[in-house]
Amino acid sequence: MFRLGVLVSGGGTNLQAIINAIEIGKLPDVEIAVVISSNSKAYAIERAKKHNIPFEVVSKKECNSQLDFENKIIKILTEKKVDIVILAGFMAILSENFVSHFPNRILNIHPSLLPKFGGKGYYGIKVHEKVLEAKETQTGATVHFVTSDVDAGPIILQKSIDVLPNDTPESLQRRVMENCEWIIYPEAIRIVCEKIRDNEI
Ligand code: GRF
Repeated sequence: MFRLGVLVSGGGTNLQAIINAIEIGKLPDVEIAVVISSNSKAYAIERAKKHNIPFEVVSKKECNSQLDFENKIIKILTEKKVDIVILAGFMAILSENFVSHFPNRILNIHPSLLPKFGGKGYYGIKVHEKVLEAKETQTGATVHFVTSDVDAGPIILQKSIDVLPNDTPESLQRRVMENCEWIIYPEAIRIVCEKIRDNEI
C-alpha cells in the first residue's frame, strides 16, 4: 500500500479528485495517510473530515522560521509513514531541507504547460492572467516532481486545452481544473506508484 501525505492550503478540489479516484478503484494500493493544511480555514479540511482522513494544521504564522515550519510537516509525514508527498494547492515554497527528505517522492500540480508560466510569482489566477496576456492559444496543467527550484522539477504528465476567444482568467482557471488538473493528478500518482514498484525511481 502506498501512503500519501497530501499538503493543502485552500479549496482542495485536487485532493477531492484523488479521494474520488481512490474510492472508485482507479488507484489500487493507494491510501491517504494524512492531509496537512497550512491554513486552518481551508475547505480542504472539510473534505478530509467527510472522508474520515486524518488531518493536521501547520500554520506558518505559528512557526518560528521556515525551517521550523518544514520540520513540523516532516515530523508528521514521517510519523504517518508517508511514501509520497502530494502538493495540492499548497501555498508555501519548500526548501532543500524539505525536498531532500523525500527524493523523487514529492509531486506538485501547476496550472500551466510548464516550463511556460511557472516559477516564483506564477500561482493561482495570476497564471491564467499571464496566459491570456501572452495571447496563448493553448494552456493546461502539469504534474511534476518537486525539486528546490520552483516549478522546475522533472515533468510526469501534462494535459492541454484550447484557450477560447472570450476566456477570462476565471473561466480558464475553471476549465484547466476540470479538464486537466482533476484528471492528470490521480493518473500521475498511478504512474509514480508504478515506477516505484518497478524500482525505476
Ligand atoms: C490549483 O489550480 C493547482 O494547480 C494550484 O492551486 C490550485 C489548487 O486548487 N497549485 P485546489 O485547492 O486543489 O482546489
